[in-house]
Amino acid sequence: MIVTTKKLFELAYGRYAIGAYNINNLEQAMGLFRGNLDSQAPFIIQISKGARTYTDKRMLEAIIRAADQVFPQAIFAVHLDHGDVEACMDCIQSGFYSSVMIDASDKPFEENIRITRQIVDAAHKKGIVVEAELGQLGGVEEHVSVDEKNAHLTDPKQAKEFVEKSGCDSLAVAIGTSHGAYKFKGAQALRMDVLAEIQKRLPKFPLVMHGSSSVPKEEVDRINAAGGKLKDTKGVNENEFAKAATLGVTKVNIDTDGRLVWTRVHREFFRDTPEKFDLRDPGKVFMKEYAKFIAHKNEKLGSAGKLPEVQKALAR
Ligand code: G3H
Ligand code: 13P
Ligand code: ZN
Repeated sequence: MIVTTKKLFELAYGRYAIGAYNINNLEQAMGLFRGNLDSQAPFIIQISKGARTYTDKRMLEAIIRAADQVFPQAIFAVHLDHGDVEACMDCIQSGFYSSVMIDASDKPFEENIRITRQIVDAAHKKGIVVEAELGQLGGVEEHVSVDEKNAHLTDPKQAKEFVEKSGCDSLAVAIGTSHGAYKFKGAQALRMDVLAEIQKRLPKFPLVMHGSSSVPKEEVDRINAAGGKLKDTKGVNENEFAKAATLGVTKVNIDTDGRLVWTRVHREFFRDTPEKFDLRDPGKVFMKEYAKFIAHKNEKLGSAGKLPEVQKALAR
């Protein structure tokens, strides 16, 4: 069942975070639904602008509609990830998305507020909720590339003003995470102190953590042992998700780690069975491994096992 993130966040707040996973194809969709049902977790499907144009946005939407029928017990939100005004408006008009993210975080403060307000007004008329972003993460996003040194953290005082003026329903905050596979050099530091300050000023308000892949060394090593050439890197410590959840983080975005699963499975598959050419053979392995990966992340987020209580709350 497709729901808005609003109810999911109300139920999760302060207790656990909900995994927001990006998908681009059928195999990811199948692994995602299976992994969330195996671990009995509510979840968020994220579709980026790049995912919408990878084939045709209607293809992904149709896959999700079909999955909703194939897995009737699943409870999830369908979310536009890192939208601009055009993509947000398109998703709001489509009637399919239950939430959109307007990412004007690269714009000056007042302009970010103005753009976000415009999307909030249009979305709320249709019962769709809006995630906005304040502060800038490091790493590479689709339409904005931010040097690690230029990334700046969310200012807690500005966060309160931003939420009040923009009317957004949740806020992505920059607390030291970054997008992509190359996140941290040396000792990693999530700024829990900044998060605590934001929560103090915005009590009960759902916060979002982007750039939360862990980039496990073991995964990178396996990829490289099978012919990959990924550089040495470090991601977010997944044991920090639980602490972040107590500080108001209700949504954690994970994409890169899933891509690493895909790369590892396919590199190892063709290394070990070079005589094979049926794409369904590695596809089957990937769906299984991706489901396992999702269930593991949900354990770390604390969303595993919460599906029955969410189902009950929604039935009331
Ligand atoms: O933060 C961005 C997400 O990982 C989506 O990546 O724009 O390459 O689909 P993408
Ligand atoms: P990662 O690159 O760390 O997986 O972050 C994904 C993300 O923030 C999607 O919006
Ligand atoms: Zn992101």
